Amino acid sequence: MFGFHYRLERHALRFVLAVVLVAGIGGFVEIAPLFTISETVETVPDMRVYTPLEVAGRNIYIREGCYACHSQMIRTLRDDVERYGPYSLAVESKYDHPMLWGSKRTGPDLARIGAKYSDEWQVAHLVNPRDVVPESKMPAYAWLARTPLKMGDLGLHMAALRRVGVPYTDEMIANAPGDAYGQASPDSPYAAGVTKRYGDATNVRAFAGQPGHVTEMDALVAYLQILGHLTDAAHVQQAQAAQ
Ligand code: HEC
Repeated sequence: MFGFHYRLERHALRFVLAVVLVAGIGGFVEIAPLFTISETVETVPDMRVYTPLEVAGRNIYIREGCYACHSQMIRTLRDDVERYGPYSLAVESKYDHPMLWGSKRTGPDLARIGAKYSDEWQVAHLVNPRDVVPESKMPAYAWLARTPLKMGDLGLHMAALRRVGVPYTDEMIANAPGDAYGQASPDSPYAAGVTKRYGDATNVRAFAGQPGHVTEMDALVAYLQILGHLTDAAHVQQAQAAQ
């Protein structure tokens, strides 16, 4: 075995060919699954894109490093499914750029956290986790509720997402700041545009409890409340499997 390697290394050309062959096998193994991607990612009619406010919340989630402690992928294992709900489908992260599946669970998986708690609970938990979960060791993010949300550049974020395949329309991009404001300000004239562009099921409410004053807390809570609810596909699939 070692003699073989010794001889191989002494013949430059043969060694190069062997390296190319081995790297080629590795490359093929990595690339091959992409050929079947159209079968891997389910097509579901009710999958919707993130609203501008949810995109902003997602950006804050990334900025604050929430993914370092929270995964967003429920595995097919029975323990996972019993604790968190139907296992994650590929289509559910179809519009996630970058994906936030994560690999570490210091805290629970968040793939189906949406609508599990009230907005008030989410805000109280983020301001100081120990107020609602006394034994929690999650850091506090109280400043999010004091920081006004920057909305001016949301159209640019959405245009960038469109470049990588998220089907935002020109109208959605042009109205991004107004829609972000409207989604957290139900009584404002901007609110109607949100449901018009993103569907009647979109959550339009003052997530952090201060209508007209849109903060980073509103954005993050809007994002958390939609996790697992962009499509019903996983629930439908689980119900079918149970029959
Ligand atoms: C240092 C690790 C850590 C970081 C960073 C972290 N968390 Fe947590 N998180 C936890 C732990 C541990 C729990 C479980 C205890 C609790 O509920 O507070 C938790 C619980 C949660 C829950 C409740 C989950 C459930 O099903 O009950 C939510 C929602 C949440 N975190 C959101 C976030 C968000 C959003 C961020 C980023 C702004 C974040 N976390 C950052 C550790 C972390």
